[in-house]
Amino acid sequence: MFATVQPLNTINSIPNDLFAAINELKKDLNAVILAHYYQDSDIQDIADYIGDSLGLSQKAANTNADVIVFAGVHFMAETAKILNPDKLVLLPDLNAGCSLADSCPPKEFRAFKAAHPDHIVVSYINCSAEIKAMSDIICTSSNAVKIVNQIPKDQPIILAPDRNLGRYVTEQTGRDLVLWQGSCIVHETFSEKKIIQLQVQHPEAEIIAHPECEPAVLHHAKYIGSTTALLKYSQQSNSPVFIVATEPGIIHQMEKAAPDKKFIPAPAMNNCACNECPYMRLNTLEKLYLAMKNKTPEITLPEDIRTAALKPIQRMLEMS
Ligand code: 13P
Ligand code: SF4
Repeated sequence: MFATVQPLNTINSIPNDLFAAINELKKDLNAVILAHYYQDSDIQDIADYIGDSLGLSQKAANTNADVIVFAGVHFMAETAKILNPDKLVLLPDLNAGCSLADSCPPKEFRAFKAAHPDHIVVSYINCSAEIKAMSDIICTSSNAVKIVNQIPKDQPIILAPDRNLGRYVTEQTGRDLVLWQGSCIVHETFSEKKIIQLQVQHPEAEIIAHPECEPAVLHHAKYIGSTTALLKYSQQSNSPVFIVATEPGIIHQMEKAAPDKKFIPAPAMNNCACNECPYMRLNTLEKLYLAMKNKTPEITLPEDIRTAALKPIQRMLEMS
């Protein structure tokens, strides 16, 4: 006897027109899709809002939707959940983590904080909810300098977890910050040598860079800023060519906004695609559809950590 062929599991079947199916689910669920610039282009194209970490948290803080579909990484979706405990927050792939967030484990950070008892803690949003819960103020790459400048001059500060952003903020503010030595695998992969070679081939090009890059790369940049700031700068500058030292997902919006300009991704040290964030790129349009259809994977977190993490996020939103 032949075995019966099982029908395709309808829970996981993917429709042909994913865009239409996602838009339909969006209406049914009263959902909003928030996407970071480092997402695949098709995810950016279906999102209701595309932004940097600050813009995404501001959107999450003000949405009327019942469901937030977060096309980004875990710490971003977690921030949305901290701000919206009663909403369903979905992340298409729960493994979409962040090397920078992972570089600051809570146990070690608690000891570091205890060793600097008179310091206040300013944490970059790229950290876990546990680290946020131990922080006084959260910042992002677009407001870190502004936030540190609002803190009284005689108040010592720990800035965690990104050492490159920390060095950049130290330089910009003249403050003697105590830095946690974390970093992002993507922004540390750019090759100074190859960037200079590219600049020689394209003398008219401007190098633009994210502050998570190493000082040697930032040193060559004409402009340094968050992803949103880099996008705006590329529109305003008269340069026809840009060498972009951040995750190349942002180039989709740069090309849309300025189709006549040329955007060259800054190369990685090895001949690899390591300048693409392996966590961000775990999300796909198919996984986004399935997350909405099955209402999972959902972000959850203990209430005591959520309430403790909420305060420094609210402080950031007030100070931005
Ligand atoms: P922004 O979104 O603040 O530009 O930061 C980039 C980043 O690395 C997000 O993970
Ligand atoms: Fe984290 Fe770097 Fe990826 Fe941003 S680009 S999510 S900081 S690993």
